[in-house]
Amino acid sequence: MDQDKFPTLEDVCLSNPVAANLTTHPSSPAIYLAATYACADPRQANRILGGEESGFAYQRDAHPNGARLAEKFRLLHHADHALVTNSGMAALSAIVLHQLRTGDHCLISRYMYGRSSVLIEQELPKFGIEVTEFDPSDLESVHQLVRPGQTKMLFVETIANPLLQVADLPALVTLGREHGFQVAVDNTFATPYWCRPLELGVDWVWESVSKMLNGHSDLMMGLVCGKSTHWGRIRQVASTWGLGAAPWDCFLAERGLTTFGLRIDRASHNASLAAQFLSAQPQVKQVFYPGLPHHPTQSNVKTIANTTAWSNNSTNAVGNVVAFELDLQQRSVEEFISASGIAYFPSLGECGTTLSHPCSSSHRHLTEVQQQSLGIYPGTIRLSFGIESFATLREKISAGLVGNPSRPRNT
Ligand SMILES: Cc1ncc(COP(=O)(O)O)c(C=O)c1O
Repeated sequence: MDQDKFPTLEDVCLSNPVAANLTTHPSSPAIYLAATYACADPRQANRILGGEESGFAYQRDAHPNGARLAEKFRLLHHADHALVTNSGMAALSAIVLHQLRTGDHCLISRYMYGRSSVLIEQELPKFGIEVTEFDPSDLESVHQLVRPGQTKMLFVETIANPLLQVADLPALVTLGREHGFQVAVDNTFATPYWCRPLELGVDWVWESVSKMLNGHSDLMMGLVCGKSTHWGRIRQVASTWGLGAAPWDCFLAERGLTTFGLRIDRASHNASLAAQFLSAQPQVKQVFYPGLPHHPTQSNVKTIANTTAWSNNSTNAVGNVVAFELDLQQRSVEEFISASGIAYFPSLGECGTTLSHPCSSSHRHLTEVQQQSLGIYPGTIRLSFGIESFATLREKISAGLVGNPSRPRNT
């Protein structure tokens, strides 16, 4: 054999054949793990890196799997632009780093995911940004908290964690227009299935894709969606601070997204039925679910709900999370967890139903008094509903309330 016909070991190992033009369409996307992309010449590299030509040069800036996924999120949110980041916290960081400067002031809802509060209330002051909490159930007070010319942003959750207060987004947008600040919304609990905040006039939306959008608890990711008027340099800011999502995670999230509609619909209806069931149980002191008629912010639901989802809504479902307060005189949290067999995960949005205990997880950084001022007590349990049959779930919840605590866990 003529050894000269073969390429060298280095050529074989380092070769990167361009994919043949496929004549049939693959059923799932290719995964482009490439860290860099060869450009035709320095001028092309300059144009791509400067955003004047579409294409990819360096993975931290952009890559095909991220671009595909971001486009799907853009369409789901009816947004002008979308960006994927390596976590929900990175999504919030991108908005903050793009929008705020030393000397600015911002308002943050007192009902926020704990780490979002820590980022805004403890990290931003290090950069000379001042922060004031507001109560979304008392919008009149926002007028007094605004600092004319200095208040640049307001942060709120569409449906807040863990007691599911629904924000009056149209009213907050009106306040923003009146006082000249932008409104940024964490839509993680609502997802674009239940609410598309940009359609209500909100300026920025972010979500943790790690939750229901991906739905399989096997990656961390976030999204930012926004309008052309404010989008500016946020992509460059996200790249500079290293906030982008990796190709493999984008592939997985895109796969998770294929079943998103079915999962959120089923899980939300399970949540709604469970909220009604829990409301009738003597071991339960209070139930929090925005679809229940007595929920304090029930009247805001119709103002935020995406009309397509709302029109198919036979059980007053709004999201897949329910919180309730156990009567600790009758049943301990440990007994509920052990007897129900529902897995305790400090997260939400999986295919299976999971449970969280805010005092020991999302709100553990607060004192007992602070927790109680938010309505969170040692007996408060948050359930993130999955796609099981409701009959199975009702059995598990009943067992949690009255059953033998030695039942094996489903972890
Ligand atoms: C409502 C909400 N927003 C944001 C986040 C942060 O997302 P991630 O964990 O993907 O950074 C979480 C995480 O639990 C959350 O529950």
